[in-house]
Amino acid sequence: MKAITQDSFGGPDVLHLTDVPEPTPIATEVLVRVRAAALNPVDAVVRSGRFPILGQPPFILGWDVSGVVEQVVPGVTRFQPGDEVFGMPFFPRAANAYAEYVAAPSRQLALKPPSLSHEEAAALALAGLTAWQSLVDTANIHKGQTVLVHAAGGGVGHLAIQIAKARGAHVVATASAGKADLVRELGADEVIDYRTTDLARAVDRVDVVLDSIGGETGIASIGVLRPDGLLVTIVERTNSALADRVRSAGRRFAGIAVEPDHAGLEALSTLVDEGRLRPVVSETFALADAVLAHRRLDAGGITGKLVLTP
Ligand SMILES: NC(=O)c1ccc[n+]([C@@H]2O[C@H](COP(=O)([O-])OP(=O)(O)OC[C@H]3O[C@@H](n4cnc5c(N)ncnc54)[C@H](OP(=O)(O)O)[C@@H]3O)[C@@H](O)[C@H]2O)c1
Repeated sequence: MKAITQDSFGGPDVLHLTDVPEPTPIATEVLVRVRAAALNPVDAVVRSGRFPILGQPPFILGWDVSGVVEQVVPGVTRFQPGDEVFGMPFFPRAANAYAEYVAAPSRQLALKPPSLSHEEAAALALAGLTAWQSLVDTANIHKGQTVLVHAAGGGVGHLAIQIAKARGAHVVATASAGKADLVRELGADEVIDYRTTDLARAVDRVDVVLDSIGGETGIASIGVLRPDGLLVTIVERTNSALADRVRSAGRRFAGIAVEPDHAGLEALSTLVDEGRLRPVVSETFALADAVLAHRRLDAGGITGKLVLTP
């Protein structure tokens, strides 16, 4: 099969389209013909060697997949050949999603929501699970609460605002001016241009902050939380100095590392079916154009998600 491999750490040019053996599913797994594989910021830092969670190259990047079940190993009862599935298998170990086929544990996948394309479903998995596990499983946000979502035009943020809205929260979002209209359309009640506006002057007494930026943004977020409010960070989960600072201010701290989770995928699918959640795919690239897709990823400031189509 065709896959994108890399033999060394580095810039986007280390990515190459090559022929590799098709994976063989083992007990608990299904073989999926990949129709779409979404990109995430973690792909870029693994590729470059800044966050070497897959060890030394060679390896195949990618976690977010959507595709069609081709083969089911005896013992797997959740799916049949022909089922359309999506998920984020194995994260943070290798899933090898930048490829024509992926073998994955059946319980780390869910049926693709019928109203989504494969591109949209792939875009939903990792970022959607991150938002769900942060805002629902961890923060248990509910009606009557105010939630501040940073980077609301990005991969995690644009899904987080929709989830927060679906749970009945009042949603405050930060985004650059060019993304404000989209963020409002997706359900934000208030949009703060983080480039021109001091957070402390714009918002106060928030119940939950979802921080996907970190640094000064995380520190500034402590001051806008109500007493006992919760800072959920997906970028500084190991920052014990930040955690201490949050707690000594009388606020709560939670650091999140997203995990494969079919229940979470199914919850996201339900919101999609109800018309309350829709991923935004801003650009799609052929698998062979993974270098171009990674140049785009490295440039940053992405709206929604980037997707590869084998
Ligand atoms: N812990 C976990 O399990 C986990 C899971 C998923 C992602 N993450 C991490 O979370 C981060 C975000 O991921 P993502 O997929 O959402 O990234 P993304 O799609 O690249 O989105 C980042 C967004 O941030 C905005 N932005 C940049 N600086 C900002 C600031 N100071 N304030 C507000 N918005 C700002 C950018 O848009 P504009 O500047 O144009 O507005 C962009 O839309 C990454 O570092 C990623 O690795 C962690």
